[in-house]
Amino acid sequence: MQVVQRISELREQVRCWREQRLAVSFVPTMGNLHAGHVALVKAAREQGDRVVVSLFVNPTQFGAGEDYEAYPRSLEVDCARLEALAVDTVFAPSALEIYPAGTAGHTRVDVPALSGILCGAFRPGHFSGVATVVAKLLNIVQPDVAVFGRKDYQQLLVIWAMVADLALPVQVIGVPTVREPDGLACSSRNGNLTPSQRALAPELHRTLTALAQALRAGESNFALLEARGREALEQAGMRPDYVGIRRSADLLEPRGGDTELIVFAAAWLGNTRLIDNVEL
Ligand code: PAF
Repeated sequence: MQVVQRISELREQVRCWREQRLAVSFVPTMGNLHAGHVALVKAAREQGDRVVVSLFVNPTQFGAGEDYEAYPRSLEVDCARLEALAVDTVFAPSALEIYPAGTAGHTRVDVPALSGILCGAFRPGHFSGVATVVAKLLNIVQPDVAVFGRKDYQQLLVIWAMVADLALPVQVIGVPTVREPDGLACSSRNGNLTPSQRALAPELHRTLTALAQALRAGESNFALLEARGREALEQAGMRPDYVGIRRSADLLEPRGGDTELIVFAAAWLGNTRLIDNVEL
């Protein structure tokens, strides 16, 4: 497995593969890998002849006061894990390599229809930061297929929309959420939970599952269900940012008769913000 830091080196590698007519799959990550990332890499392996994984904690998707500096970085452990998964190339650029003139004046990509709601309402600029770095990474790697997790469903929709709007020549695949045995969605931020917070954390998934069951059973007062979800999370000791029932295609509020729904929540446990969703 090759580990490269420079855009030029990565491009040269991909150019060689292209000459051999090999299909390239790409998994963008911010490192601190867990079982969810392993599933993304396995899906990427199924889709392509060569697999590139990026490890880059992207400053432009963190707001002021968020955990950019504190975000866990574990390059050596991540590389060992990726080598065991037979990844071909790890792209681990510095912030200077991606944003040589800093982040402030850098070109931004924005998907306005999807970026100001749900998580976007609580993290202004976050999805623009994601879209910007993903657009840049896709331009650097130029993969045939790029793989993302469905746990970050809003992010996945933003990327699907960006790829369609900008006619980027890549197929974007969403891989189902990987969960711990107690239902907690795997996340790099789970490691920040204290043992007592970790014991409470599965309540997020339990609450979303209960709301999904109520919807499947025909309940259709969405506002009431969302309020019920918020109350359940508060009772479990969390501070919900939101609980939202939305149409999975466009994240708009559902009307009666819509069946493709998704239940989202973001909630704080101490200083850790957890997100999750259940698709119907
Ligand atoms: O989901 C993530 O880890 C990040 O948002 C991504 C897609 C790697 C962009 O920095």
